[in-house]
Amino acid sequence: MIPGVPTPLYSHAGRGDFRDVYEPAEDSFLLMDALEQDAARLSPCVCLEVGSGSGVVSAFYPRCWDPQLCTCECTDVNPAAARCTAETASRNRVPLQPVLTDLAQCLLPRLCGKVDVLLFNPPYVVTPSEEVSCSDLPLWAAGRRVTDRLLPLVGRLLSAAGLFYLVTIAENRPGGILGQQGLTGEPCLTTRAGNERLSILRFHRSPENTT
Ligand SMILES: C[S@@+](CC[C@H](N)C(=O)[O-])C[C@H]1O[C@@H](n2cnc3c(N)ncnc32)[C@H](O)[C@@H]1O
Repeated sequence: MIPGVPTPLYSHAGRGDFRDVYEPAEDSFLLMDALEQDAARLSPCVCLEVGSGSGVVSAFYPRCWDPQLCTCECTDVNPAAARCTAETASRNRVPLQPVLTDLAQCLLPRLCGKVDVLLFNPPYVVTPSEEVSCSDLPLWAAGRRVTDRLLPLVGRLLSAAGLFYLVTIAENRPGGILGQQGLTGEPCLTTRAGNERLSILRFHRSPENTT
């Protein structure tokens, strides 16, 4: 990994045409820090980010290597986020073609068993259950609901030695996620940001799930 790669340009996110796109924050930066910290475990490879938002993390990963050696894919369910990621890719001269889909549904047939690095910074803020059906919840408010829908897909997407990096907060009860769905996980990096205790969890396929 190339050391000290700067954060990709993202000043267009969260304003103008991209005002409804999640603006990179401590969680986004912690995820990039975790990737830098894990440099020795990682390599240029097939990377998939689910929920790319501004695209700052998706643009960061290929910039850490010779971009010719990386295949980076990303998705978002929000059309404005997909457009924002494309703009971020262009501003940072990174080849990215965001796919508008729920989680990774459209990419499953092509990427099954091929993803070496899977990234997800989900909408993790816990919301009262009476608000869950409200259609205009902010983009960051879903508690574990979106994460829990992705987990069954993770083992199908990851290559045999693939790693999955997930952002959580303490209220998501990360301990309960660590051994789920044929995956083994551990905390990789933790920080406090305001009232939030943010953690990046790192998962790999459990030994009995690697054949
Ligand atoms: C907390 S933001 C993170 C954005 C960016 N990855 C970052 O780290 O700054 C969560 C992103 O997940 C996207 N998202 C939420 N539910 C999704 C789903 N079911 N499928 C794909 N993306 C989703 C949101 O639109 C949003 O862009």
